[in-house]
Amino acid sequence: MPPYEDKLKQITREELITNKLKLVYQEIKLKFNFIDRISLALYDAECDTLTTYIHCTSNGDPLSLYQSRLSDSKSLQEIAKTGDPRIVNDMSVFDSVKKRHSDRIKKYGFKSSYTYPIYNKNQFYGFIFINSTQLNAFTDDVLEQITPLIHLIAAFTVIEFSIINTLTSTVKTALVMSHHRDPETGEHLDRMARYSRLIAMGVARQYNLNDETIEHIYLFAPLHDVGKIAIPDKILLKPGKLTFEEFELMKTHTSKGLEIINTILDNYQLDGMQHTAILRSIILSHHEKMNGKGYPDGLVANEIPIAARIIAVADVFDALTSKRPYKEAWSNDEAFAELKRISNDELDADCVDALLKNRKVIERIQSLFVDSE
Ligand code: C2E
Ligand code: SIN
Ligand code: SIN
Ligand code: FE
Ligand code: FE
Repeated sequence: MPPYEDKLKQITREELITNKLKLVYQEIKLKFNFIDRISLALYDAECDTLTTYIHCTSNGDPLSLYQSRLSDSKSLQEIAKTGDPRIVNDMSVFDSVKKRHSDRIKKYGFKSSYTYPIYNKNQFYGFIFINSTQLNAFTDDVLEQITPLIHLIAAFTVIEFSIINTLTSTVKTALVMSHHRDPETGEHLDRMARYSRLIAMGVARQYNLNDETIEHIYLFAPLHDVGKIAIPDKILLKPGKLTFEEFELMKTHTSKGLEIINTILDNYQLDGMQHTAILRSIILSHHEKMNGKGYPDGLVANEIPIAARIIAVADVFDALTSKRPYKEAWSNDEAFAELKRISNDELDADCVDALLKNRKVIERIQSLFVDSE
């Protein structure tokens, strides 16, 4: 027998969850070559949506860039509720039930599935799906050997999300402490995060964004205005139009935001956190304009990082449709017309289209997150 070699050694070094999953997948394939797919979908409890997060597969992925409602699948709902994994060794049992999700899975020839709910204490995070093109793939022996590896992936996912949660909570706390009366409500942040995800999914193929990147754009969106911590109340909460000087100061919320987030990342020793480049670009560049007339750097068109272009559209749309100390809320029709007017010149046209195409989803998001005052 060859000497033992730890093929998972790299797993704690890898930055991206996608790469951690790849290592586990290779390890599983070595023993059980008939396992063809592992994928992880995250649950957004407030929207009841399940969104693909990461996956590994040997034959193309049926469910990347995919979103569904948990309430659309009784069986998945049951797994989420009980916390018990489900093994299906002959997926033809689903033949009678018409489901988009299972249909897409079946087209790829998967015959067995193992569905594992990810829990952190009482909180349900999402599912890990493992599939095989063979019937009866998940025997007791297979389960016994792969289950610890699945727990490992679940644990890494939970760690990653606890870190981001801590970061977001820190920033929200700082905003509340610095501005007793925060003009940008929690609901603004909730809505614009969902608009950002919607836009990111819409432009994903064009701009080569994978599911992991989309999820991080969504998670980081609420942090875009962290720099407003540094803006005095008399400017931030001013009921009327800002003077030239006041707006010049207001504009520094982008670069000050970057300083603040760098300090936080440094203090919490999160410098190695995944996707900090996305986070930094969102904070620094969300007020750049396509024509180069934005701030702080006057970047032009695709010099502006795609994550910042996505956030800009989501932010402007929600600013228009919300009440601000300096303006009333606009109707969706008025906001749509304004977005079309500044599309291309100021905002990325693909991102504007991706949002405006989805009026139904926008309205659903608006109905789920209503300003509380
Ligand atoms: P905010 O209120 O979150 O607005 C974000 C962005 O939405 C604005 O970035 C702007 O691009 C867009 N926006 C808001 N209202 C309108 C509008 O009526 N028409 C168009 N086309 N776009 C609009 P901007 O201009 O860089 O401002 C950044 C931040 O500065 C704003 O964030 C707000 O906090 C503050 N601010 C801007 N103008 C005023 C103002 O006249 N009075 C006060 N008190 N604050 C202002
Ligand atoms: C379901 O929607 O319950 C079946 C699909 C799957 O197990 O992946
Ligand atoms: C999203 O949050 O990405 C969309 C929400 C929905 O499907 O209603
Ligand atoms: Fe801003
Ligand atoms: Fe904002």
